Amino acid sequence: MGAVHTNNGDDGRGVLCLGIESSCDETSAAIVDSNRNILAHIIYSQIPEHQKYGGVVPELAARAHILAIDEVIEQTLRLAGKTISDIDVIAATAGPGLIGGVLVGWMAATAIAQSTHKPLVAVNHLEGHALVPRLSAAAAGGNWSDNAVDFPYLLMLASGGHCQILLVRGVGQYELIGQTIDDSAGEAFDKISKMLGLGYPGGPIVDKRAKLGDATRFHFPRPLCNTPGCDFSFSGIKTAARIMLDKNTEPVDDTFINDFCASFQAAVVDCIINRLEHALGTDAVKSANPKTLVVAGGVAKNSAIRAAMEKLADDNGMVFAAPPMSLCTDNGAMIAWAGIENWRVGNIVREPVAPRPRWPLTEL
Ligand code: KG4
Ligand code: ZN
Repeated sequence: MGAVHTNNGDDGRGVLCLGIESSCDETSAAIVDSNRNILAHIIYSQIPEHQKYGGVVPELAARAHILAIDEVIEQTLRLAGKTISDIDVIAATAGPGLIGGVLVGWMAATAIAQSTHKPLVAVNHLEGHALVPRLSAAAAGGNWSDNAVDFPYLLMLASGGHCQILLVRGVGQYELIGQTIDDSAGEAFDKISKMLGLGYPGGPIVDKRAKLGDATRFHFPRPLCNTPGCDFSFSGIKTAARIMLDKNTEPVDDTFINDFCASFQAAVVDCIINRLEHALGTDAVKSANPKTLVVAGGVAKNSAIRAAMEKLADDNGMVFAAPPMSLCTDNGAMIAWAGIENWRVGNIVREPVAPRPRWPLTEL
């Protein structure tokens, strides 16, 4: 269990929000203030518990959340030097995600809010990813911490469970421009890694290997590229990888693996850029005229995707922004920040909320 981000010492602070995240394999809590300071942040990752299965096992995840949640919340408060009475707003992920885990965090948040009579916000996990660039964002290599990303912005939201292009017009206002018709980008990274026997989660491993490889050695398809529209398809890339590996007669050594990862990643990058180019040409995006191109979600950690999107933004006279690495994959700070943004617009829980395994952003 480790603190990934602390920023104490702002006592002329505004509203304080405790955010709780438990929708997949991270039990996390954070205390964030409305001046965009992260006072404390704990992420307890269950990755070691799922690694031997090559992916997240929902029942194991739910049990691990139950065992960790109290400690994670207590440690977060201690680290911030606060007690629960100092907190103004409680927020937790209420979906979408693995329902066993979501229930754990949501019930903890509900119990705290009810016993302390504090406002409670039911955060959509995807909205957490979508809004966190407004808490903290940096252009690749640059430091952007003092500039909030303003609405509207064009968002590439790519995680293990989702792959969508969204026009973010405001809190709760998301227009879906394109989405995957099969796998998410994160899933594709994870599956390629599994096929190569590289481990879970695959994204960071493939990213690292790809940096050492030759992206022109293997030819992967670019599904849907250069066809009209903004939707994605990644299952064809995965199938092509399976066929290439089954037919392969060359030694699967480090060079082979690095080249395979580089070639695969280049195909994913091409698909993302092609779909974003189409998105920039849609009537909805043209009329909203967003000034910022943003990437968020776990896959936003990918160095090649960040670099290609930064170039695309430059070519289109836009600013590129991405959350810092620690705020791309699932975390409590993004939930706390979405809690503050929703609280500001009066979106607090007024009657019981049932957590939802499926909860599209367009249904907020
Ligand atoms: O947002 P996230 O933590 O969880 C979901 O909400 O799904 O995203 C996790 C995903 C995993 O599929 C993981 O392999 C991927 O993000 N990921 C990456 C990288 N780091 C994490 N994908 C590509 N490149 C990376 N560097
Ligand atoms: Zn996520």
